[in-house]
Amino acid sequence: MSGKNWDRVPIDAQSVDAPLSTAAIFLVVTVGSDQAALSAAASVLGELDDLVKNVGFRDLSGRLSCIAGIGAGLWNRLSPSRRPRELKPFAPIEGAAHSAPSTPGDLLFHIRAERPDMCFELERILLDALGASVSVADEVSGFRYFDARDLLGFVDGTANPTGLDLPASALVGDEDGDFAGGSYVVVQKYLHDMAAWKETPTHVQEEIIGRTKIDNIEIDDDDKPRKSHKSLATIEDDAGNEYDILRDNMPFGRPGQNEFGTYFIGYTRYLWVIEKMLQRMYVGEPPGAYDRLLDFSTPHTGTTFFAPTRPMLQKLVEGVGE
Ligand code: HEM
Repeated sequence: MSGKNWDRVPIDAQSVDAPLSTAAIFLVVTVGSDQAALSAAASVLGELDDLVKNVGFRDLSGRLSCIAGIGAGLWNRLSPSRRPRELKPFAPIEGAAHSAPSTPGDLLFHIRAERPDMCFELERILLDALGASVSVADEVSGFRYFDARDLLGFVDGTANPTGLDLPASALVGDEDGDFAGGSYVVVQKYLHDMAAWKETPTHVQEEIIGRTKIDNIEIDDDDKPRKSHKSLATIEDDAGNEYDILRDNMPFGRPGQNEFGTYFIGYTRYLWVIEKMLQRMYVGEPPGAYDRLLDFSTPHTGTTFFAPTRPMLQKLVEGVGE
């Protein structure tokens, strides 16, 4: 796998670059600690492509896809000697005002389709196949909300990399040749305080996000003492190079339970980039000037995974005995 070029890498990638869909399920599970559970989970991972085909072929226009991410703990059990260079559990963050917890997860299944029933069906079949080998840690069904807005009312995903920038931002390259084409994945489930957000005037909401609400135009806050979410999440190195990530956030909720959320998911070539975004959001830049989005949004989960390429995934699970 080493020595790959960018233009060849995406071919092997699990569908990281699948287009934003109208429906998604984020399923996080832990794998039982015994060898039998490990073998059972590995064999399901080995047949994941077939499971996706079985459901996806029933309506090709539904564009069903599924990405499997593997947490650091499970990776160590599958391949103790070789692991992606930066892979480690999500590091909790304690800011002065807000903190981000680290929560368990061995496997992430990011299921996307144009039809919620296709996502549902694949999740059902997957969990049937995994059986008692796993316990569900978290399960969220997300939906695309009008013109890709989050439940706070802002268009979410605009600054995502496109074209050749996409693999260059989201997929590991020659810097870690054995794992080239894979991607680090960080997820966080946020719940919003909608009552407080509604009481916040629109121009303040716009300052917090860093874009106008109706027409989604960027607001320049370079000279402002308090940076917006957009600016805190913009990462540059000393030479001024910007580091993007690929986000596919999805709204979710149950209005009857007063539950209104954003499921954050970020794919990145370098895990440190998302870690730095989180530091800037929670600790602030300068320290103390944290992301005011967090005054209205509380993370309830936080987990890191690595999504290997298809061939990598096959190799990883082949080694696990029955
Ligand atoms: C930008 C919403 C959490 C990273 C944005 C934008 C919105 C938004 C509306 C502006 C439009 C766009 O470019 O997409 C949210 C919400 C979140 C959340 C509702 C959770 C409650 C996060 C987290 C990260 C992150 C946890 C990273 C760790 C980014 C990045 C941008 C962005 C990289 C683009 C910045 C740029 O303009 O280059 N987000 N976000 N977001 N967000 Fe978030």
